[in-house]
Amino acid sequence: MQIMKDSFGRTFPYIRMSITDVCNFKCGYCLPNGYQVDKSDNRKFLHLDEIKRLAKCFSELGVRKIRITGGEPTVRKDFFEIIKVLKYETDIEKVVITTNGYHLDEKAKSLLDSGLNGINISIDSLDRETFKKITGHDRLPEILRGIRNLQELGFENIKINAVLLNGVNSSEKDFEKWSEFIRNNKVDFRYIELMQTGDNLEYFKKYHIPSKIFKNYLNKNKWIYQTLGKDAGPSLNYINPEYKGKFGIIAPYSKDFCKTCNRLRITSRGDLRLCLFGNTGISVRHLLQKDDQLNELKDLILKQMQYKKESHYLELGDTGSTKNLSKTGG
Ligand code: 5AD
Ligand code: SF4
Repeated sequence: MQIMKDSFGRTFPYIRMSITDVCNFKCGYCLPNGYQVDKSDNRKFLHLDEIKRLAKCFSELGVRKIRITGGEPTVRKDFFEIIKVLKYETDIEKVVITTNGYHLDEKAKSLLDSGLNGINISIDSLDRETFKKITGHDRLPEILRGIRNLQELGFENIKINAVLLNGVNSSEKDFEKWSEFIRNNKVDFRYIELMQTGDNLEYFKKYHIPSKIFKNYLNKNKWIYQTLGKDAGPSLNYINPEYKGKFGIIAPYSKDFCKTCNRLRITSRGDLRLCLFGNTGISVRHLLQKDDQLNELKDLILKQMQYKKESHYLELGDTGSTKNLSKTGG
C-alpha cells in the first residue's frame, strides 16, 4: 500500500471532510450574519456516493480516521446515513464529527446508533447569556442536555471546544466554571486560540488573546502537561488526578504547531486542501463520479502531497483563501 507522505516526512492518517457550508449558528468570529446563500452557486455539496468513493480511496492511502465537519454537518438530511456508510461500508476505522450541538438532546440516540466514534462539540461559554451573544442562539441548555444524554447512553469520546475570546470567556471565573464541569465529568475541554480569517479582521483585533493566559491558570492550579503521543492532534493536553476530564489548548500561532500536522482537508465541494490556511488545493471531484476512477484519484492525491508546505505562515498575517472557517470546517 502506498501511503500519503509529504516532503517533510509527515504522514496523513487523518482527514477532515466538510459535507456542507451551511450553518444555522452565527458565531461572531465565523458567520456573524449567519450563512448567506450565494445565488450564483447552486450549493452542490458532495453526494453520499462521492463521499463514499473518497473515503474508500483515502483508506487505501493510509487514512484510518475521518472527521466530518461543516458548516454544521448535522443540517444535512442524509447526515446519519453518511456516518453509517463511512463506518460500515468502508475500511475507515474511526468516524468522528465536529458539531455546534444544535438539537443534540434529540440526536443523542441516533448518533450512538450510527456507530460514531467521537464527537467534538463547540461550546464557547458555560454562561447562557454569553453563549447566546457569541452564537446568536439560546441553546446552551439543550446542548448540555445532549451531552448528558450521550453519557447516559454510554457514549465515551466527548470533547468540547471553545474559542478563547478576550474579555468574553477568558477570565479566571470562566476557567473555574470549566474546571468544575470536568471535575466529575469525563469530557475533555480545549480552548482554541482565535484565528484570523479573511472576513474577521476587526473581530480578531478586538478579541484575540494568546492562550498563555489559560496556560498560566493551568500551571497555577497544578495541572500537569501530558507529553504528546504518536498520533497526537494539535492539542496540548493537561491532566489532574482529581479530575475525570482533561484540559487542552490549541494554539495555532505557536511556533511548532505545524510540525506534527497529520491532517488534510476536503471541502464540501470536493477540493483537496493541504492546509486550512493557504491557497494550495485542487478539485478532485471529477474523479469521484465512477468506481473505476479509483486509481486515477489515488495518483492525483499522491501527486498533490509534494505541494504541502511546511507551515501555515499565519504569523505573517497570510490567511490564504480562507474567508471564514464555515467553508473548511475548522
Ligand atoms: N478561530 C478559531 N476557531 C474557530 N472556529 C471557527 N472559526 C474559528 C476561528 N476564526 C472553531 C469553531 C469550532 C471549530 C469547528 O472551529 O468554534 O469549534
Ligand atoms: Fe457555524 Fe461553526 Fe461557524 Fe459557529 S463556528 S457559525 S457553529 S460553522
